[in-house]
Amino acid sequence: MVQTVHNISIESPAGWKDYEILDSGDGYKLERFGDFIMSRPEPKALWSKSMSDAEWKKLAHTVFHPGAGFGKAGKEDVGTWEMLKKMPERWFIEYKGADRKASEWSAFRHGVPDVQGLYMKMRLGLTSFKHVGVFPEQASNWDWIYNHSQMLGPKPKVLNLFAYTGGATLAAKCAGAEATHVDSVKQVVNWAKENMASSGLDNIRWIVDDALKFVKREIRRGNTYNGLILDPPAYGHGPDGERWKLDELLFEMLEECSKIVAKEHSFVVLNLYSNGYSALLADTLLKKAFGDYAGREYTCGELVLEDKFKKVIPLSVFARMFTK
Ligand SMILES: C[S@@+](CC[C@H](N)C(=O)[O-])C[C@H]1O[C@@H](n2cnc3c(N)ncnc32)[C@H](O)[C@@H]1O
Repeated sequence: MVQTVHNISIESPAGWKDYEILDSGDGYKLERFGDFIMSRPEPKALWSKSMSDAEWKKLAHTVFHPGAGFGKAGKEDVGTWEMLKKMPERWFIEYKGADRKASEWSAFRHGVPDVQGLYMKMRLGLTSFKHVGVFPEQASNWDWIYNHSQMLGPKPKVLNLFAYTGGATLAAKCAGAEATHVDSVKQVVNWAKENMASSGLDNIRWIVDDALKFVKREIRRGNTYNGLILDPPAYGHGPDGERWKLDELLFEMLEECSKIVAKEHSFVVLNLYSNGYSALLADTLLKKAFGDYAGREYTCGELVLEDKFKKVIPLSVFARMFTK
């Protein structure tokens, strides 16, 4: 049987002035974040580079070299940055949401004015884990969260779990949401606070906690949310050493989340980076946990980046639920 499924979408950031991917190949990607260009390992770039090594070296400000722990669980991304040109340790990039026709969304907005538009200014830095503080492929999730937060009515309550430096939290906040940001690492939450301030936003609820423990506590308190966002890693730890293992705990986490999401005017966004997880797997998980009945709309797909040579790198999969 051949099935054509219509709700799978392939999404990538469009027209982002401060980010582009110049080339990819031989296990690396060459990216520009604002004024600075870096060469970082990208295990999914299985093809060869389109530009020469000499051209990469000429363009890059810095290149990340994996260290001895590279490839070992928990130390996959540890390494060092080799500086090829002068660049600051910290710098900022801006993100303005994809252009959206007001008429496209006004029908759903319940008269909520567009609070400040989708605008964020995020601080970047070279970490010893090859990351710079932003996962740029997440931009289309940010757009979706911003748009759908507005469609939930005035001041929807949005909870972001495994929230990192806060891109998705800020997107919800830009739409006027009462946003709660949960991550187990204090430094990362402090980084997200800086991003809130540089984006001209305030009044976000910050929680340093184990995500599953927090959700269970919210169930006991009887608290509910209109929007839930989850971007769980393959492995992680709560602040008190609680073990997070995606394969073992993801479905339990989603079932617990189903107890704190509002029955109507609600959304859920699940994003997965782990290898071997497909968009349809994310879709089935969400449907099983949140129920697949009339009124619930589900979509799923892949978040990708496309380099200047039209080579597409699939980076994560997502599933989303929306209930009017
Ligand atoms: C893949 S990152 C999320 C990326 C982020 N959503 C973004 O796009 O910018 C995973 C995050 O989960 C956090 N984390 C890991 N284990 C956790 C746990 N048990 N409870 C809460 N947060 C956890 C990490 O500190 C990290 O910030």
